[in-house]
Amino acid sequence: MNYEIESELDSYVDSHSSPEPDYLKRLTRESNLRLINGRMCSGHLQGRLLKMITMLCAPKLAVELGTFTGYSALCIAEGLPEGSRLVTIEADDELEDFILRQLNGSEHGKKVELRIGKALEICREFADESVDLMFIDADKREYPSYLDEAIRMLRPGGLIMADNTLWAGHVCDPAYENDPQTKGVRTFNDKAASLPGFDIVILPFRDGITLLRKKGNLKI
Ligand SMILES: C[S@@+](CC[C@H](N)C(=O)[O-])C[C@H]1O[C@@H](n2cnc3c(N)ncnc32)[C@H](O)[C@@H]1O
Repeated sequence: MNYEIESELDSYVDSHSSPEPDYLKRLTRESNLRLINGRMCSGHLQGRLLKMITMLCAPKLAVELGTFTGYSALCIAEGLPEGSRLVTIEADDELEDFILRQLNGSEHGKKVELRIGKALEICREFADESVDLMFIDADKREYPSYLDEAIRMLRPGGLIMADNTLWAGHVCDPAYENDPQTKGVRTFNDKAASLPGFDIVILPFRDGITLLRKKGNLKI
């Protein structure tokens, strides 16, 4: 496909998907203006996908590892049924005020509880099989350990979504064999692909999103 058609197709897909709410456009703009890593926000399509998957799962309790400025957290919150909640975990305490402002600026923010701290430490506070949906999007080096925790925390029928599992293609590039983040993502992918008791698919969308569903029925 030539470049012109490819970029036409991007706009076509954007304009034929549910629109990005204005409050998320403002969040992205503010993230880019105020922070050096503003591009870490999930974008329009990924956000709509997170909302869609959340609506399909109808979780009571969702957990996100890696909040950044709250874009994905608010998309998941948009998809949560009434009375359900999302706990989102962010290690960088300097982001706390920014995130809380974004949560307070959205009608969906009240469903979100922000926890500042290390994802692995906070995950250990959750009981076995207590979580219905997890979104993994924090430190790539720790992805294999996040997977272990997610497997433990997830209810039968629950879903794990993991972002950046193609890691800009580095997962297949021998030049990145010794890169710690690439190693983390590769180990995660290898481990996930051989997990008994789970259905798994990698969506080659954006930077790769893996969906892993624990077999069994979710009891709502
Ligand atoms: C890619 S960004 C998350 C983007 C966000 N989920 C979104 O889609 O808008 C990754 C975030 O994980 C945070 N992070 C890194 N290591 C972490 C850890 N060990 N525990 C919790 N958060 C961590 C980073 O500070 C960063 O804000």
